[in-house]
Amino acid sequence: MQIDIQSELANDHRDDPAQLRRTPAGKEVAVSTAAGRDEILVNDWHVIADASSLSDDALLATRLMGIDLVVSCLGGDGAIVKRADSGEPVRSAERYGFVWACLGEPRRTIIDIPEAAEADRHLVTGGSIAVKVSGLRAVENFLDMGHLPFVHTGLLGEEPHTEVAPYKVAITTADEILATECKVYQPLASPSAKEGFIVDYIFKVMRPYTVALYKSNPVQKERLDVIVLFVQPVDEENCVAHPFLCYLKDNIEAATVRWFMQLIFAQDKPILENQVPKRLPLDPAAETPIRADASSVYYRRWLRSRDVTYGAIPARA
Ligand SMILES: [Fe+2]
Repeated sequence: MQIDIQSELANDHRDDPAQLRRTPAGKEVAVSTAAGRDEILVNDWHVIADASSLSDDALLATRLMGIDLVVSCLGGDGAIVKRADSGEPVRSAERYGFVWACLGEPRRTIIDIPEAAEADRHLVTGGSIAVKVSGLRAVENFLDMGHLPFVHTGLLGEEPHTEVAPYKVAITTADEILATECKVYQPLASPSAKEGFIVDYIFKVMRPYTVALYKSNPVQKERLDVIVLFVQPVDEENCVAHPFLCYLKDNIEAATVRWFMQLIFAQDKPILENQVPKRLPLDPAAETPIRADASSVYYRRWLRSRDVTYGAIPARA
């Protein structure tokens, strides 16, 4: 479903056209109303730890949607996750170098990232960065091309290249937000870049707290490097960002990929933590309908229509 951004923005207060949700069996069901708020989050998988941070003899304490969890790795059988209050086991899994947990009944599988299966890519976890803001804010900031020249000056943007060119946004049949034809001039798009160039970006919001960026590789320009941001909702106003990078190995070491991601995220962290309010406002009146914010407008509307309120200030009824 391709949607024209200009006409969408002109009709900013109309209902989201995508009122159907696809079940794991492929069946489409109507999105539930108030009674089902945040079910989409409770019954989904979330990253709660970088598996490399676990050791056999230590427990790792973390928190997911306000529930304290303890992760152990005893006996080499993989991670075991339990609630800290009751000791009840919590569903868990390991994938992409991360430990995942689901607080309810998983209605979907862990997100599939086909590029992670390609042998000529580094698969790098980018560190787990605690940020004092709603995870929804972290996703929205990741989508925002307008901040690149100002927050990542000399790396992912620079003046006078500050205008965000028009791009397309659509909701896919898999119920993801897809922004395509995004172009941005970057002085140092990646550590392997030799010069500035216009980088093609594709953004995909895969789940409420998960967003991916596909960007042109500086060497193999027909292929794309992938950065996925798995955001752990610690509580409504705190999150942990777990970046996962699938970079083509050409001319770059895994350690450099990780260092570059951490450099970039260190620039974002203070910006995110200064956002007021800390939760993401979902009232349509809080949106700024300018073209550069098209992804943001879609994201907030998509969250509203899927009854996501955790980490948000819900729209007035
Ligand atoms: Fe940023």
